[in-house]
Amino acid sequence: MSNSDPASMSPFSRLIVTGGQPLEGVVRVGGAKNSALKLMAAALLAEGTYRFCNIPQITDVALMADVLRATGCAVRWEDADPTPDLIIEVPAEIEPVAPYELVEKFRASIVVLGPLLGRCHEARVALPGGDDFGPRPIDMHVSGLRELGAEFETVHGYIQATTDRLVGSRIKLDFPSVGATENILMAAVLAEGVTVIENAAREPEIADLCELLNKMGANVIGSGSPTMTIDGVGEMHAADHCVIPDRVETATYLAAVGTTGGEITIKDARHEHMAMLCEKLGEMGMRISSDADGLWVLAPTRLRSVDCPTLPYPGLATDFMPFLVALLSTTEGVGIVTENLFAGRFRYVDELRRMGADIRTDTHHAVVRGVDRLSGAPVKAHDIRAGAALVVAGLGAEGSTIVSDAQHIARGYEDLAGKLSGLGADVVAE
Ligand code: UD1
Repeated sequence: MSNSDPASMSPFSRLIVTGGQPLEGVVRVGGAKNSALKLMAAALLAEGTYRFCNIPQITDVALMADVLRATGCAVRWEDADPTPDLIIEVPAEIEPVAPYELVEKFRASIVVLGPLLGRCHEARVALPGGDDFGPRPIDMHVSGLRELGAEFETVHGYIQATTDRLVGSRIKLDFPSVGATENILMAAVLAEGVTVIENAAREPEIADLCELLNKMGANVIGSGSPTMTIDGVGEMHAADHCVIPDRVETATYLAAVGTTGGEITIKDARHEHMAMLCEKLGEMGMRISSDADGLWVLAPTRLRSVDCPTLPYPGLATDFMPFLVALLSTTEGVGIVTENLFAGRFRYVDELRRMGADIRTDTHHAVVRGVDRLSGAPVKAHDIRAGAALVVAGLGAEGSTIVSDAQHIARGYEDLAGKLSGLGADVVAE
């Protein structure tokens, strides 16, 4: 894996999108970033060799590989069909540390806290960085792990967690946080006795993680429901697993074809992971049908506006919102988007306005009045999904849109430019 340097996986810093072509053809969606990263963290729970298939070759995966290496694991890619497998070798002894140089680059690294505590009874994890959308505290992670018996202090920018023994407990989350659910879950699998997580997050990526944990010998029931019960086991072992397809990448292609019009097939996409989004897009005028191979999508040249509130799963995901705002920028009428998860997640709206979008924001609401057409402009990607949303907007715009800071996009997309070009779009990475 030649990827210690994340820049080596994102050799481009700009995407140049020339709009106007309807999208046509077939695109294959890759493995889910938000699942892959957690599966990799889960490997820390037990010694042995893991083979993961369908892991996307993106910068965040390269960074998580480096986090694992810092604990003493060996990580490499091995050729396989249709995508390489990720092989992780976890030694008998690991170093329970996640260093600042890596953690500050991506927030998801905080999920090593639970497995390190579970396995080593101690962990030293730098306080996380990541996407720039408002304050993202980890109080629920910490209080849940405290209830299992961990003690915390913050020293020189690191969270230091220690415990003599973890003991199962009943933990009620104030909010169904994805990261807190995952950290508590991954510590609880090796705790003594039974842990119940109430108001747990229900995202498909959590169900995927539970499937791997159970293959590794854990005893988790109720995944995908608000109450998860974990009966702690004394020991776990390595296992192989294939990551689920990425519903956020799928949403990107859905919004893209919604913007340009056209007919595409999104191979491997799973309708059941994004039913609410498909329903919304149907209300807007798109036709979407699903079968075992993926989604078939037909979009007319202009859609109708709808209101879109974001909510925890199974609601409309906050990660879909930047694409929906880009899409609503040129639909007929007015759509109100309400962001209920991350307060500061509207920075990209200023960039869309530079393309001629008519959007007003007020606290966590955005009022999007559709215009006939956006016009290409130089714009900046502030985070992964914001960057992809600007690409979506550019696909429907007149002229060329130059998305700078596009290395953010490579954190979560494997060859977005190539995949969109395969659908007939004019997108060049440089
Ligand atoms: C994950 C996803 C991210 C997605 C988000 C919500 C990964 C790598 N990232 O992020 O793409 O947008 O779920 O679906 O999987 N909160 C607290 N205290 C905590 C934890 C969270 O107040 O201890 C708040 C957050 O600030 C936010 C909300 O809860 O307002 C949701 O956060 P959470 O579900 O934890 O998101 P992440 O796991 O960080």
